Amino acid sequence: MKFFIDTADVDAIRELHDLGMVDGVTTNPSLILKSGRNILEVTKEICSFVQGPVSAEVVALKADDMIAEGRKLAAIAPNIAVKVPLTWDGLKTCKVLSGEGFMVNVTLCFSANQALIAAKAGATFISPFIGRLDDINLDGLDLIGDIRTIYDNYDFKTQILAASIRSANHVKDCAMIGADVVTAPPAVIKALASHVLTDKGLDQFIADWAKTGQKIL
Ligand code: E4P
Repeated sequence: MKFFIDTADVDAIRELHDLGMVDGVTTNPSLILKSGRNILEVTKEICSFVQGPVSAEVVALKADDMIAEGRKLAAIAPNIAVKVPLTWDGLKTCKVLSGEGFMVNVTLCFSANQALIAAKAGATFISPFIGRLDDINLDGLDLIGDIRTIYDNYDFKTQILAASIRSANHVKDCAMIGADVVTAPPAVIKALASHVLTDKGLDQFIADWAKTGQKIL
């Protein structure tokens, strides 16, 4: 499973990149706002050290304007994935930009039918938002499973990029059900390494070691 990092915080991406944990990055307008950076500048900086796909999202609502924005974002670096919303104009944009050879990430997906039509439009990635479905008492993981079945039934090449990840359990569940990629905030990636019994066990080892009076170095 590929890990994308869901942030525009360059320092956080670098830390995980140095550990080999970064297969790509996703951003969105809210994450750009949070970073306090200019979208073109911060995206260029991320692409200067991340080799995998870096998603940068258009903000226009009409296809012609989305296409123009997408081309401008794609010019930042060869590994840009242009992110477009799952609207009719977004699908038109997806079709045009994927036809021009650009990677396209179709975002704000909340149903299997939306994922189906995005694949038909040539999406490189589909981003189902599982956390936001869970927030309204629907089952985000069911959606990932349905999309997996549909894509496998018809051998669609669109990659399932599970998004809106809120917990380490979400990551495990997405891995179990066969998402191709998970995009998660840095804190969730770090939480994958945590277990209360690891902490407890280490405390005991350190306490017992102190009692031995020994040193390794
Ligand atoms: C990533 O592509 C999405 O924009 C992001 O995962 C949304 O996450 P949120 O629902 O926590 O805002």
